[in-house]
Amino acid sequence: MSDDLSNNKLNEEQEDTLTNRQGHPVTNNQNLRTVGNRGPAVLENYDFLEKISHFDRERIPERVVHARGAGAHGYFQAYGTVGDEPVSKYTRAKLFQEKGKQTPVFVRFSSVIHGGHSPETLRDPRGFAVKFYTEDGNWDLVGNNLKIFFIRDAIKFPDMIHAFKPDPITNIQDSERFFDFCASSPESFHMVTFVYSPWGIPANYRMMQGSGVNTYKWVNQKGVAVLVKYHWEPKQGIKNLTQQEASEIQGTSFNHATQDLYDAIKEGDYPEWELLVQIMSDDEHSELDFDPLDDTKLWPEDQFPWLPVGKMTLNKNPEDYFTEVEQVAFGTGVLVDGLDFSDDKMLQGRTFSYSDTQRHRVGANYLQLPINSPKKRVVTNQNGGQMQYKLDRAPGQNPHINYEPSILGGLKEAVQDGIEHTPYIEGNLVRESIDRQSNTKQAGETYRMFEEWERADLISNLVSDLSSCDQRIQDKMIALAEEADEEYGRRLREGLAQTSTKGSSQKPLGNRDGNKAPDEAVKKGH
Ligand code: HEM
Repeated sequence: MSDDLSNNKLNEEQEDTLTNRQGHPVTNNQNLRTVGNRGPAVLENYDFLEKISHFDRERIPERVVHARGAGAHGYFQAYGTVGDEPVSKYTRAKLFQEKGKQTPVFVRFSSVIHGGHSPETLRDPRGFAVKFYTEDGNWDLVGNNLKIFFIRDAIKFPDMIHAFKPDPITNIQDSERFFDFCASSPESFHMVTFVYSPWGIPANYRMMQGSGVNTYKWVNQKGVAVLVKYHWEPKQGIKNLTQQEASEIQGTSFNHATQDLYDAIKEGDYPEWELLVQIMSDDEHSELDFDPLDDTKLWPEDQFPWLPVGKMTLNKNPEDYFTEVEQVAFGTGVLVDGLDFSDDKMLQGRTFSYSDTQRHRVGANYLQLPINSPKKRVVTNQNGGQMQYKLDRAPGQNPHINYEPSILGGLKEAVQDGIEHTPYIEGNLVRESIDRQSNTKQAGETYRMFEEWERADLISNLVSDLSSCDQRIQDKMIALAEEADEEYGRRLREGLAQTSTKGSSQKPLGNRDGNKAPDEAVKKGH
């Protein structure tokens, strides 16, 4: 330790001088303050106590789902049109209106089930969450890469995640628990068909699609709404992995997708996605054999074409993983004027869950963090709470009037721009599932849409994970596959018949041999 005061003074003046969080220069970062150089240490070691107690709190709870992720900054550029029409016909959302208009974005890609450092080769849907920092405040589009989901009612989500996550006793993911839930929730069969095919292991984050999955609304200046689904199409093409390819990658790296994204951006090879929408008139569509609010269904492309509305480019890596990627908070409730909710029951359940978990995960003032805060002024009467560090006040605002309305001053309500969308709703309060469930039809269509190597990998993966499951679960899964497509069911039945059920009673998902994908596995298109 230096006892030279002038040297200390010099230190204080230098920009790289180490300080503690009180701004005190740290003159000795190597030794505790002790009685003699062999100890014991004294409790007055403020620098040490501050340093170690901050370290003890370096982690926040990881996301209950989607803990493993990677992020990047970029921008969205609007086309001003939706297909051949002006976008204003359907939505007044400002970010879409003008051709060439740019809106900054932050994107976080993720896997769903395992923890923050789990391998990125695991079979799992991938999260695709985009925060648009628009002039009207933030818009979050929180989606996945597979365009559909396992369930259609939010009340089933905690059970589904419990079944998919590791067993509460062994802490090992167990395919029997996974298929037990899926066999008993036939609406999941379409998603299971995607997840067990190579589409369940995208080659990396740059070469996968994204989708809002749930049905939203667009609202125009007259307050007229349409139903809308969002999709991201990668300009890099789509590439998925067979189980065998994924296992080979996992043998050498469990961070390959994060590395791929980081390196591409660092090297200036900026990934791009086009944003496309499917539009339906805002009604129940009794002519369809499925409900447009059912997120286990694809909207047929021939009837509801994918219409381009803009393009996203990712061109900047995060400066700090924790500050940006870990603390970023997306939610389906975060919409701007011109965008609205549909009655999709999953969307409505999700909308409560995200901000609720973020108040717990990040803290009550999570929206004040730079990554979450809109890039426009924020002026509210909300105040206080753990870790508030600034006031969201208007310049010159009377600090005594922290309420509204007031005749003495304070903040005023905004003026509504455009006519509000006010849908008429009536009906009995019930606990019932929707009509038109059509649980397996689209799974059959998806099976037939796959190329042969994808079908072979799907069957091999299903056989491998189902073989250790209770016979009743196997029978139910075979019945669902037969209902979807005769060949799908037959191949699954034959595959399982050939497999011995001996061996471990508990089997992790994945780690099986699959079929090799052809080299031309890079795809374009929807
Ligand atoms: C993350 C709940 C369905 C996509 C999360 C988180 C929760 C959650 C609590 C953690 C958020 C955080 O800690 O910041 C739910 C519930 C659902 C549901 C209750 C159904 C009722 C879905 C669906 C999708 C999806 C259908 C895909 C369309 C995501 C994504 C993330 C996420 C991408 C990670 C966001 C990020 O990168 O920070 N979800 N989720 N979720 N969810 Fe969901």
